[in-house]
Amino acid sequence: MATAKKVYVKTFGCQMNVYDSERITEALGADGYAATEDADGADLIVLNTCHIREKAVEKVYSELGRIRQIKDQRRASDQHTLVAVAGCVAQAEGAEIVRRAPVVDVVVGPSVYHRLPELLRKAGGGQRAVVETEFPEEDKFARLPDRSGSRAAAAFLTVQEGCDKFCTFCVVPYTRGTEASRPVAHLVAEAERLVARGVRELTLLGQNVNAYHGRGEDGTVWSLARLITRLSEIDGLERLRYMTSHPRDMSADLIAAHRDIPKLMPCLHLPFQAGSDRVLAGMNRKHTIGEYVDLVHRIREARPDIALSTDVIVGFPGETDSEFEATLDIVRSVGFAQAYSFKYSPRPGTPASIMSDQVSEAVKSERLQRLQELLDDQQSSFNSGCVGRVMPVLFERAGRRAGQIVGRSPYLQPVHAEADDGLVGRVIEVAISAAGPYSLTGIVQTARAGQVA
Ligand code: SAH
Ligand code: SF4
Ligand code: F3S
Repeated sequence: MATAKKVYVKTFGCQMNVYDSERITEALGADGYAATEDADGADLIVLNTCHIREKAVEKVYSELGRIRQIKDQRRASDQHTLVAVAGCVAQAEGAEIVRRAPVVDVVVGPSVYHRLPELLRKAGGGQRAVVETEFPEEDKFARLPDRSGSRAAAAFLTVQEGCDKFCTFCVVPYTRGTEASRPVAHLVAEAERLVARGVRELTLLGQNVNAYHGRGEDGTVWSLARLITRLSEIDGLERLRYMTSHPRDMSADLIAAHRDIPKLMPCLHLPFQAGSDRVLAGMNRKHTIGEYVDLVHRIREARPDIALSTDVIVGFPGETDSEFEATLDIVRSVGFAQAYSFKYSPRPGTPASIMSDQVSEAVKSERLQRLQELLDDQQSSFNSGCVGRVMPVLFERAGRRAGQIVGRSPYLQPVHAEADDGLVGRVIEVAISAAGPYSLTGIVQTARAGQVA
């Protein structure tokens, strides 16, 4: 019997890439490739890449350097390795990737990866690299095989792609194209299939997920809130989350959903990027800091225990010391359970990259350090505040230590407990006994099956 060809997929960047990598792996599975964790033994290596900051792109090229060595070694023993670059670097750089890294056989953009098996066959001879980065009319999701593979307790589901906001620092509108929402019926079918395979929690994904405006089951346009309501009716699905949201698209019905839908977890990722109105205008974020703070009040009125997380950029062109202080002030006044913070990274082709008043690397580093200290303190105190509470935890996997399992709280904190791994895949009440900077420890209270309110 012929052994299956092996594919190694490595993912960089955001959750949408994690989702795409699963779908790529499944599509290649249907084409005869078995997934492997071992790059050295793979017949095909796929890098699903990110273009958001310069560092993300550097990582891809250094990985391609390593892959060249693997390919040379395998060639020495007469084995052939195909190399494909997918994702946002593929879209942004196209054929340039092959010029810089001739080891690459296929470049495939995020809108056309359903064609990867066919592109690999074209490149099979290894004579000439194949580059495919158009934005096609067809819906790639409708052309991919149905969801397969073994399922974890929690899964991602991309509901919306692309972005029409054009923040001046950001590459996403160029790499992922204009906003498009998947039809409700397709999403319900995919969600039901995932739940039937054991998924208990779904995180709905989109670059601007709350701008979702897909065709509903009744032919009208549905909002994200309506989609969440519909998905919450699926038996066996216990938890819903969504990310990433833009403040401008935080509509009243979505805020109300946080009050009305028990399966919607009390967690919201809402980037504010910068604390000064002048910087926000330069970023083209389309809202003021006052509007952001007011929005936070309305959300907390609807769901008082909601845990907010955010993204922040320091050192956007022209950002002064006092404008940076305004960023710290917003963090202090809003209070975040978790956050990602970045030094501004100029991206080719974006308006901010050619603004004249770029901030020096030294200043950016110093600002980032101060911001991260504050955010770390807030995260630690949010975690310590959970000690003594009893909360439902969805256990997702065995822990690193024997006898330990790991899950997530409603607020997305990792929770460790000493318990039998038979509880993996179930929502169980846990008394939180200790908190660390990034995770909690607790004691399992009940081990009854099914839903815990
Ligand atoms: N759609 C989301 C963000 C997607 S990118 C939103 O609008 O909030 C994820 C985060 O990367 C952004 O929120 C931003 O904080 C950061 N980011 C994007 N471009 C960047 C750049 N050029 N330099 C530094 N950080 C950047
Ligand atoms: Fe990028 Fe702005 Fe779109 Fe978010 S809203 S993906 S930051 S352009
Ligand atoms: Fe990166 Fe593309 Fe996601 S640039 S953050 S992988 S949308």
